[in-house]
Amino acid sequence: MATVKVHDGELAYTDQGSGRPLLLVHGFPLDGTMWSGQTAPLAERFRVLVPDLRGFGNSSVLPGLVTMQRMADDLAEMLAALEVSQPVIFCGLSMGGYVAWQFALRHRQHLSRLILCDTRAAADSDETAANRIGLAQRVLKEGPSFVAEAMLPKLFAKTTIETGSPVVEATRQVILRTDPKGISAAARGMAQRRNVTELLPQIDLPTLLICGEHDAITPPDEMKSVAEKLPQATYVQIAGAGHMAPLEKPTEVNQAILEFCQ
Ligand code: MLT
Repeated sequence: MATVKVHDGELAYTDQGSGRPLLLVHGFPLDGTMWSGQTAPLAERFRVLVPDLRGFGNSSVLPGLVTMQRMADDLAEMLAALEVSQPVIFCGLSMGGYVAWQFALRHRQHLSRLILCDTRAAADSDETAANRIGLAQRVLKEGPSFVAEAMLPKLFAKTTIETGSPVVEATRQVILRTDPKGISAAARGMAQRRNVTELLPQIDLPTLLICGEHDAITPPDEMKSVAEKLPQATYVQIAGAGHMAPLEKPTEVNQAILEFCQ
């Protein structure tokens, strides 16, 4: 993988295809490989850029706390370093969506469209934030295996797990090889992210919202209520998928992205 220097670190990324730039931003605690079902097919139409966010995959780790703003700024720095001058289609899943909101608020001039997969605009409840701080402390002591065991049943639809889909084991392996310091810092960053709900009417960009029918982390009703507040939103529900809709149902997700970006 290639790397590029950003503030206080390095981001790893892949860059395939040509045409309008499409940035695919992964969720927590994963890496760019979660877009394996998108990268090659969409590179037939777009220049597909897939970063590993700071602390994940092959990117460098900034221990302590990494905010969603920092991650958004990293991506703006990456685009500048790669001389991507055309505004990008920013597609983020879950934590990648939290980063997308910050990118839209801080780097609007670099955006042409937004795609939000299985994410929310609201901040954490006090209870969720406290659980994240607990996870941030525990992962430093115990490593990531408890994170994998706790998260996998929530990331995938029941049928994806019960049918033995290889994407479940692949995702487990990604979590197990992630640096605990990266998981900890991002968990703290998510715990203190702001609620952007009241800012949604300002995000006046064509926006596609994709949600797995059985998403247990950001259910369809949550995403529909985000869509209602955005000036130019299209909502697409992916039948049979959970939170990891792009991995579970790549053909349907790619179709939704291609139709939206025509
Ligand atoms: C993700 O998929 O990025 C996480 O589920 C986000 C979260 O924990 O809020």
